[in-house]
Amino acid sequence: MTAAPPPDGSRRLPIRLVVNGQRHDLEVEPRRMLVDVLREDLDLTGTKVGCDTSQCGACTVHLDGRAVKSCTVLAVQADGFAVETIEGVAAGRPWGPALEPGLHPMQAAFVEHHGLQCGFCTPGMVMAALDLAARSPDPTEDEIREAIHGNLCRCTGYQSIVASIRAGAAAMRAEAAAMRAEAGAAQGSAGGGA
Ligand code: FES
Ligand code: FES
Repeated sequence: MTAAPPPDGSRRLPIRLVVNGQRHDLEVEPRRMLVDVLREDLDLTGTKVGCDTSQCGACTVHLDGRAVKSCTVLAVQADGFAVETIEGVAAGRPWGPALEPGLHPMQAAFVEHHGLQCGFCTPGMVMAALDLAARSPDPTEDEIREAIHGNLCRCTGYQSIVASIRAGAAAMRAEAAAMRAEAGAAQGSAGGGA
């Protein structure tokens, strides 16, 4: 006699996620959403749950570099993917004169330009903003509003968020230019000695 299959929900499937650069081998029930695995199994509670119905964007993370609402993705669908959460955004960032300690320039811009009040929407806003900045380093206001149209904020009225994202993208461009100049100078001095 063959054993009856376990009731739905008790079956677990093995998955592998690389979250903020760190590999995790997990066993998850097929019904569980990525946001719940991040928050409950990996203790990454920076990613928020505002609605659980794909409307607020508070749960936005990056899946292989693109912003997704993690309450709409089954954890098993993310098997083998690289996931970045708000906790990984500033990992390894240097302390610099223009930055809050350990903040990414986009996060620092939200602080400087008052892009948050209660802060509940902010992790999702920052992840959506970083996705936009990667695709469009100098985004227009229309592009910014389009990029965050799936992210709700109950506090700010959005204008300060748009200003924050413009400033954050500008800071990222400046940082990239400084890094290129530094790399060029290092190359020049390495090749210049005779
Ligand atoms: Fe995912 Fe609201 S919790 S969109
Ligand atoms: Fe409160 Fe956006 S800062 S919801």
